[in-house]
Amino acid sequence: MALVTTTKMFEKAFAGGYAIGAFNINNMEIIQGVVAAAKAQNSAVILQVSKSALKYAHPKYLKAMVDAAVEETGLDIALHLDHGSDFQICKDCIDYGFTSVMYDGSHLDYEENVATTKEIVEYAHKRGVVVEAELGKLAGVEDEVNVSAENATYTDPDQAVDFIKRTGVDSLAIAIGTSHGAYKFKGEAKLDFDRLETITKKLEAAGFHHYPIVLHGASSVDQSSVETCNAYGGQIDGAKGIPAEMLRKAASMAVCKINMDTDIRLAMTAAIRKSFGENPSAFDPRGYLGAARELIQALVEDKIKNVIGSTDSMN
Ligand code: G3H
Ligand code: 13P
Ligand code: ZN
Repeated sequence: MALVTTTKMFEKAFAGGYAIGAFNINNMEIIQGVVAAAKAQNSAVILQVSKSALKYAHPKYLKAMVDAAVEETGLDIALHLDHGSDFQICKDCIDYGFTSVMYDGSHLDYEENVATTKEIVEYAHKRGVVVEAELGKLAGVEDEVNVSAENATYTDPDQAVDFIKRTGVDSLAIAIGTSHGAYKFKGEAKLDFDRLETITKKLEAAGFHHYPIVLHGASSVDQSSVETCNAYGGQIDGAKGIPAEMLRKAASMAVCKINMDTDIRLAMTAAIRKSFGENPSAFDPRGYLGAARELIQALVEDKIKNVIGSTDSMN
């Protein structure tokens, strides 16, 4: 067994009207919680690593643990760089054995985004690695990039077609109203599904059949985790994410990859706070980290089964 790219996963997901979950990993407990859930649901899965995660855990450790997960579960697992900021970090991850990288030039001038994406696609494709890029700006914070809601801009459908034609990129992250982090909406949640539909239609018309679209900033900001955090000393107020039914709708359309990180962070924090609150005299890390791993598994199983619909995608 070896790591796989996302190519076959996305083909099956598009045809089957579901999406593959891409979960951010930072340590062993998160990896184990996510893959145990994928195994229990017989689902393919994407494990993704941000620049800060690489800095925190070191690529060699993360790669070795993900290789162990592949061997232990026998699942189709892709190892993906999330929000690569330049050619060098994408190249480094490809050289470390990642099977997919994202280059995020969404905050740059369009022509600069095209040029660097193309350069990375050329390097990646020669080595059997796939590339995701981003067009349009999501609000929120990711690594060093902080985009305010006023500066967020939705993806232009014609530009998306031109971008894919000129770069040869394998999948495209679009901006239709999602944002990173735990505070996505002040009022009612709203996604621009008409824009998603238009992008898909224009891509089909241009000869890109079943082209896979990626949704970042797709955590639902699970209220039970928020409530547990707050019940055990946390101060997380007004947090709000993307309702599950909107994610289900996106997954039934052209969205083949749905990114979730915040929900994992909240589950992990909730489990650890609860464990500390209920066992004030305990100090074995396996107790509270084990509780976190269990809650992450439950969360990811729920996502796979009830939200993105990738159960039995290994068949
Ligand atoms: O999109 C951003 C992800 O949630 C990763 O966040 O850069 O803090 O690891 P991070
Ligand atoms: P969330 O903050 O909604 O979990 O989004 C994560 C993400 O898009 C990682 O790239
Ligand atoms: Zn993201």
